[in-house]
Amino acid sequence: MLTTSKIDPSGSDSQPLSFRDKLRWLPPKWLFRFLNWLGFRPAPVQALMDASMFMLPQWMYAVAKLNIPEMLHHGAMTSSDIASKVDANPDRIDRLMHALCQQGYFKLSLSNGTERWLNTAKTEVLIESHPNTIRPLLLHWVEDCYGPSTRLLDALSSQASAFELYHEQPGMDFFSDYLESRPTSHAQFANAMTASSAFTDRAVMDDFSWSRFDSVIDIGGSRGSFILPLMDKYTKLKATIFDLPNVIEASERTLSDSTMNSSGRLTFQAGNFFDQDTIPRIGANSAFILRNILHDWSDSKCEKILSNLASAMTGQDSRIILIELGRAGNRERSNMERGRTTIDLLMMTMFAGKERTTDEFKGLLNAAGLELVAIHKTRSIAQVVEAKLATAN
Ligand SMILES: C[S@@+](CC[C@H](N)C(=O)[O-])C[C@H]1O[C@@H](n2cnc3c(N)ncnc32)[C@H](O)[C@@H]1O
Repeated sequence: MLTTSKIDPSGSDSQPLSFRDKLRWLPPKWLFRFLNWLGFRPAPVQALMDASMFMLPQWMYAVAKLNIPEMLHHGAMTSSDIASKVDANPDRIDRLMHALCQQGYFKLSLSNGTERWLNTAKTEVLIESHPNTIRPLLLHWVEDCYGPSTRLLDALSSQASAFELYHEQPGMDFFSDYLESRPTSHAQFANAMTASSAFTDRAVMDDFSWSRFDSVIDIGGSRGSFILPLMDKYTKLKATIFDLPNVIEASERTLSDSTMNSSGRLTFQAGNFFDQDTIPRIGANSAFILRNILHDWSDSKCEKILSNLASAMTGQDSRIILIELGRAGNRERSNMERGRTTIDLLMMTMFAGKERTTDEFKGLLNAAGLELVAIHKTRSIAQVVEAKLATAN
């Protein structure tokens, strides 16, 4: 590796710098153009650009709230057309569009001497009706999580989460306190969960053998975004959505017309997974499904949830199926692990929860009288963790 002495104004330190750190070294012009063409950026420039990324979700949020992607879906528009349609400052809209264009959102087309904006694939998915929309996730992250993330530094040395510190309410629960008193955020959160399913559902359904179950109970199943497509695929499967009373009330209302509901294959159960008496019992060839549930909770709360469920299982043929991202927790770097560690930090920000390693799953299950059967990888970021009552039980 090419090295040079570190440029230090005090001249006191002569630590060698790698080629990637040579910010102040001027290469010959031909080499500068070549490196630029290759997309090479010195490490300090990369870090600076990463640091500036705190703004990007706000830019995306602004165009999503103004429904600019929807407008462009119907045809190309100039910045001033957009500005007049959304009643905004044309210069500011133009600069926002140019900044997003540099990030791969929006592109310019030139026709008859006029430049007009068009959507790209990344802006199409900000449209609510797009089959792979990420809009509700973007709105949830910016409106509910962005503020709390400003307290992460303080949360690192606190028992409280960044979410609790931000709201100045120790013990505040995101589900039963925060969402409960904000119906719009609540509905948006349910939509965000549905939108996030699009990234994993197909793989989770195809890469695990669900056909062995006659009936399942989706614990914290919300609006049925996982269970309904699963029932579509396995047409004999019976299912119950179990969730907090206010969620069940909304889900029953939303799903009242669904064919599953009318055929009696889908039922609803209001309850609380911390209260053993509200959890229905399951028998052989049945399973409790917990999709994206345990990652919201601390180890002690997870042990309580799991032991309540274990008490409602009647034999070795019933299963607990966790659908979680998990975390390798090793030195390997990959896109999947980058996604998992990012969501792990979201859990750290909003809850006392975490994405767990295999050993951490084993520890939780064993403490609740269960044992790990297998962790099934899928063709997605999600993993299926299969558990049963511990053999000694
Ligand atoms: C992160 S969401 C996951 C929703 C769904 N399983 C999915 O993957 O889309 C967590 C769910 O757990 C439910 N929940 C939270 N606390 C609960 C409790 N104490 N008892 C039952 N459900 C609860 C929430 O209402 C919400 O629907």
